[in-house]
Amino acid sequence: MTATGHFISFEGIDGSGKSTQARLLADHLRGQGHDVILTREPGGSAGAEEIRALVLQGDPDRWSAETELLLFTAARRDHLERLILPALASGKIVICDRFADSTRMYQGLSRGDLRASVDALHSLMIGREPDLTLLIDMDPVEGLARAKGRQGSEERFEDFGTDLQIAMRAGFLALAKEFAHRFTVIDGARDMEAVAQDVTHTVANHLVS
Ligand code: ADP
Ligand code: TYD
Repeated sequence: MTATGHFISFEGIDGSGKSTQARLLADHLRGQGHDVILTREPGGSAGAEEIRALVLQGDPDRWSAETELLLFTAARRDHLERLILPALASGKIVICDRFADSTRMYQGLSRGDLRASVDALHSLMIGREPDLTLLIDMDPVEGLARAKGRQGSEERFEDFGTDLQIAMRAGFLALAKEFAHRFTVIDGARDMEAVAQDVTHTVANHLVS
């Protein structure tokens, strides 16, 4: 735990509305006068954004799960060193669209059981969890339809299809139980404003606690 800043992450399946809610929360908190850094993973620093292109573009079988785990962890380490930790040390609120819980799910669970490797690498190279994690939960079919509605080339994971998204949803809900002290589950299958209201309420409670 840092003595000063607050580290808030958004997690959930593709298309659940994480990026939308992260942006709305950042706007809301800035409106209240907070100093906010809005960032995302993979990416968030120059080097990590380069790794992002490697992991999110191309064939679904471009990397083995193990190689992918190393790439995501390398990107996170750079992001943490160069952006997140300095921002927290100077008292800012860092809002991160995905963090290590995504690795626990996507690399830890999607192709074989790599969760032990994910956790070992995390404690060796990252060693930091968010103070608060907002899990935007929703039906995977609806989430995938939303995600597919976006145009773009970063579809390696979305190309894995609905079965993976169903496993991810269950996995994220299990993670929320495992790390109950920092997770709040938010129903994402509602209009953006209703979801945002729950998000701001949860964050307000966290900031005063
Ligand atoms: P994620 O970051 O979780 O993949 P996004 O925030 O990018 O999700 O949202 C995916 C798509 O769904 C976007 O086109 C976005 O405008 C739309 N969207 C986000 N939240 C909602 C919502 N509550 N209801 C309907 N559509 C939404
Ligand atoms: P993101 O841009 O958040 O996608 P979306 O907006 O569709 O949710 O993340 C891109 C993809 O990267 C997403 O499918 C999940 C995957 N991912 C991992 O596999 N491992 C990780 O550690 C992270 C951070 C993301």
